[in-house]
Amino acid sequence: MRDAFAGRTVLLTGVTGFVGSLVLEQLLRTCPEITKIYVVVRQKHGISGQDRFHKMLRTNPLFRLLRGTLLLPCFAGSAGHDASNDDGNLELIGCNNPHIEAIAGNITLPDYGIAQADLLRLQQQTEIVIHAAASISFDDHIHDAITHNYMVSCSLCPQYDMG
Ligand SMILES: NC(=O)c1ccc[n+]([C@@H]2O[C@H](COP(=O)([O-])OP(=O)(O)OC[C@H]3O[C@@H](n4cnc5c(N)ncnc54)[C@H](OP(=O)(O)O)[C@@H]3O)[C@@H](O)[C@H]2O)c1
Repeated sequence: MRDAFAGRTVLLTGVTGFVGSLVLEQLLRTCPEITKIYVVVRQKHGISGQDRFHKMLRTNPLFRLLRGTLLLPCFAGSAGHDASNDDGNLELIGCNNPHIEAIAGNITLPDYGIAQADLLRLQQQTEIVIHAAASISFDDHIHDAITHNYMVSCSLCPQYDMG
């Protein structure tokens, strides 16, 4: 796995979910030569995708071992609890790892709700897509489920073969 991801740029969706969070932790911990990880996170309850992502890194026990290391340096000492920055503002704390970037998006929207400039950057730079965002509701129409849970992987990076 380490060799496969070395020098690669990865786009990961569903990072706030069960599978996506496990994938991110594994990538961070075991693939130090990865070039960049983009994560697409939607806004929810008035909280931006970026802030939700940073809060997850700060509070999810899964990332406890990484907090305070070079991988998540700004979270030193925040072992599982919210920490505030010098201004006492929780929402302003970024993950401070230049190899991870959170991008706001929603896979059910046109262009995945991603700003054009970000979308272009993703399509130019991404080499591996790990699509873990999904609606796991059994009530969804089958066409919606296929479109959002599967086809997004193909269309986010049309220049690459499906692996
Ligand atoms: N759990 C398992 O054991 C397991 C095993 C094998 C395969 N899978 C498959 O893995 C996939 C993910 O499962 P999971 O258990 O991780 O589900 P989950 O915990 O419900 O996570 C779903 C993720 O998708 C995101 N998401 C949903 N709708 C979105 C949208 N419109 N735009 C952007 N992000 C959206 C959620 O973000 P929010 O936080 O914004 O809601 C969350 O991060 C599914 O396809 C599932 O069938 C799961």
